[in-house]
Amino acid sequence: MMSKPMLVCVDDYENYAREHLDRQTLIYFTTGADEEITVKENRDAFKRLRLRPRILRDVSKRDLSTSILGHHVDFPICIAPSGAHCLAFHEGELATVKAAATMKTCMVLSTATTKSIEEVSQTASHCLRWFQLYVWGARKVSEDLVRRVEAAGFKALVLTVDVPYAGKRRQGSLGFQGFKFPPHLELKYMPREATNTQAEKLTDSKSTSSPFVQYFDASLTWECIEWLKSITSLPIILKGILTPEDALLAVQHKVAGIVVSNHGGRQLDYVPATIEALPKIVEAVKDQIEVYMDGGVRTGTDVFKALALGAKAVFVGRPIIYGLSYAGEEGARQVLQILRDELSLTMALSGCSKINDIKPQYVVHQSHFAKL
Ligand code: FNR
Repeated sequence: MMSKPMLVCVDDYENYAREHLDRQTLIYFTTGADEEITVKENRDAFKRLRLRPRILRDVSKRDLSTSILGHHVDFPICIAPSGAHCLAFHEGELATVKAAATMKTCMVLSTATTKSIEEVSQTASHCLRWFQLYVWGARKVSEDLVRRVEAAGFKALVLTVDVPYAGKRRQGSLGFQGFKFPPHLELKYMPREATNTQAEKLTDSKSTSSPFVQYFDASLTWECIEWLKSITSLPIILKGILTPEDALLAVQHKVAGIVVSNHGGRQLDYVPATIEALPKIVEAVKDQIEVYMDGGVRTGTDVFKALALGAKAVFVGRPIIYGLSYAGEEGARQVLQILRDELSLTMALSGCSKINDIKPQYVVHQSHFAKL
């Protein structure tokens, strides 16, 4: 029997997934909105940043641990919410949460999960878990979900705020252009028909965007934060902030944190790379709440750059899916381990022993050197 190849970096896991997942599944996991300019920018912007290492510091021992909302994590790389993990590996989100638990990091479970809230928590009750919420038209649906999340020991709600409608993905999405969600799987908290709905069921039948379009509440405003607070005492994190203006509104509405995110380039195309949006948002927020980021993080140097520019932690989306497709829990764990090891090495080679040592002066735009 052929043994699996030795994979050494996140790109290797992506290449493996691209070779082994079926075409429609791969399209769902990898694609972005419209021309995919933002998908590409999320990666390219990291590559435009250069590091300024310091030398002759004792880096023989390194501590990567930190806290998010007061909870310990062994290293500041967490799992972003993404849908339908069972498409990548049969155990789906149960494999993901086991990987997060082993690595002592945080997993954000998506509303588009293929395993239930209770199954996920019972599988790894000691794992730090947050729940990503999409608010539906009927608030009661979300309220019931929040109750279950609380009862299952999740520690925070991550409200995704960049999806009044699903972005347009040209190559299709779940339920569109002939992709039938496998009958043995279900999205636990999205309507069953959403997975197999065809284009004619859309509100605007000429639209070519995802069938989920009709299920999101496009009328949401900042009022919904007050409503959420009235039904739960869990901390609320807003995911999908891209401007200092909205970051300041988030502070005013007293949320616990924000994720600088463009949804992995899957929503509005031509928004900036998150690593480029991050510094001005961090500057505006002035440490009043925690700022995290996601989008395009594929290496330890990427993580180091994001932390230097002010992120408290980063989240990874697709890399975890690629890991799942390679070897389930073990593959997701390997991806986290690789990122952790790369961050540790980057810190050592830059003269940093702990996360708090990583400061803005370690990172500059490449043009800093081109000017010489
Ligand atoms: C996502 N993302 C996402 N976000 C969210 O809030 N709820 C969700 O259900 C999903 N689902 C989802 C599915 C898939 C297949 C992907 C790739 C992404 C966005 C996700 O949380 C995160 O913002 C991005 O994935 C980060 O970019 P990278 O790490 O994938 O480059």
